[in-house]
Amino acid sequence: MPAKHQNDIRRQADEFIAKQKGKVSSHPWYLQYHVMPQAGWMNDPNGFSYFNGEYHLFYQHHPYDPTWGPMYWGHVKSKDLVHWEHLPVALAPDEEYDRDGCFSGSAIEKDGKHVLLYTGNVWTERDEDDNLIQVQATAVSEDGIYYEKPGDNPVIASAPEGDIHPLHFRDPKVWQHEDDYYMVLGSKTKANTGQVLLYRSPDLLEWEFVAVMAKGEGNFGFMWECPDLFDLDGKDVLVMSPQGVEPEGDAYHNLHQSGYVIGNLDYATGKLDYGAFHMLDHGFDFYAPQTTMDEKGRRILIAWMDMWESEMPTQNAGYAGAMTIPRVVTRKADKLYITPLPELKNLRENMVAHQQVKVEGETSLPEVAGDCIELEMTLDTSQASEFGIKLRVDKAAGQETVLQFNKDTGLVILDRNNSGEGPGGVRKASLEITDLLDVQIFIDKSSVEIFLNGGERVMTTRIYPTEQAKGVSFFTDKSLTLVSLKKWDLK
Ligand code: FRU
Repeated sequence: MPAKHQNDIRRQADEFIAKQKGKVSSHPWYLQYHVMPQAGWMNDPNGFSYFNGEYHLFYQHHPYDPTWGPMYWGHVKSKDLVHWEHLPVALAPDEEYDRDGCFSGSAIEKDGKHVLLYTGNVWTERDEDDNLIQVQATAVSEDGIYYEKPGDNPVIASAPEGDIHPLHFRDPKVWQHEDDYYMVLGSKTKANTGQVLLYRSPDLLEWEFVAVMAKGEGNFGFMWECPDLFDLDGKDVLVMSPQGVEPEGDAYHNLHQSGYVIGNLDYATGKLDYGAFHMLDHGFDFYAPQTTMDEKGRRILIAWMDMWESEMPTQNAGYAGAMTIPRVVTRKADKLYITPLPELKNLRENMVAHQQVKVEGETSLPEVAGDCIELEMTLDTSQASEFGIKLRVDKAAGQETVLQFNKDTGLVILDRNNSGEGPGGVRKASLEITDLLDVQIFIDKSSVEIFLNGGERVMTTRIYPTEQAKGVSFFTDKSLTLVSLKKWDLK
């Protein structure tokens, strides 16, 4: 019986995780209000969905080791998208068609059941990127805890004909439109240009290939991973993660990018007519975002808060990988705005508030410090040209993470060269630095998420400072006024 077999392999993983979890969760860099693995490795968010009154989030997971390996699906659920509960491992690589990994995918409710769609990965020669077989498979649950893989898997056994690479064919994201289900899949052409495939199904089991929905032109990557297509106020938004976009000026300095295009999908032809590519985040650690619609009709996005091939110092302590905080996506014309989920306010305690503070040179404020905090501020920048905020400052160790604004160049710069252990570097993004600038920052033990001007720019990074690195200071070349500044501890 396949079901029994799956349960044994999953149970072994759960038993292993149960023994490890206390060890990693007390580690100084273990995040307090973000989703993290209880043991081992985490990458992409998967199956982000609302089912039976709760939010479910799955993730690429290698429970036995803090490095990428045969992929399982880890699983957490939440009633409010703020507090998450860990559940048993949902999928394990235990069938012929997924024996080397249950790769990324999505989830949808159908007839009261929770249906997962994911990519089964098989290496035909060990770890060789072009010696693989990728198929699309399904798993079903009635209770949102235990998932069974039906006997008719895989539901899509090979890539379609045409200028479509036969092997790299993965990461199904499913949605319903009118009477049918649709799926986008990450793909590339035979000559290595990233593209997205569109499929249609009446029942989530029989899938018909519709068209290559979108294809990159120019410097747009050799493979598009983790596509996601959704309607936002009458426009179709395609989110995807192109691998291999070359750096251009200040842009595209991470190994891989994640961004979006906005357009109109013609469901009859399967073609997306779309405009310019924009990044979703301008920091260091943001990849493979996935969205869902919440019970209030908002579009909520979560991404992997790390980057492939980036040094991860927590691996020495037996764990690696995290999710971003949930973010709300809204659209104004052809741009998306990304803001923190408002319900994260429920984590706030011990408010400290300051008003009309004049900064000259460098200033710290009483009680504005911490390693698990939120900062919300409005800055009057009219008398400053170069100014910024230092976070996680440890003077004795010479550590600081610097967010700097420059009015002359119109740039915001995030500098983690002195952040502690782990990778350094700077990331720069253009920003209209208005006279009144809104800044909201979420700090957790080894993460920083920065939201500027109501979600016009977001910058996310992992950092690995000392436990003493709790200082916050403000600096300016001329004069800067903190019109209002609030700080909360987050619990
Ligand atoms: C993206 C990705 C996906 C794949 C998964 C494997 O980060 O490479 O394309 O399904 O990770 O873990």
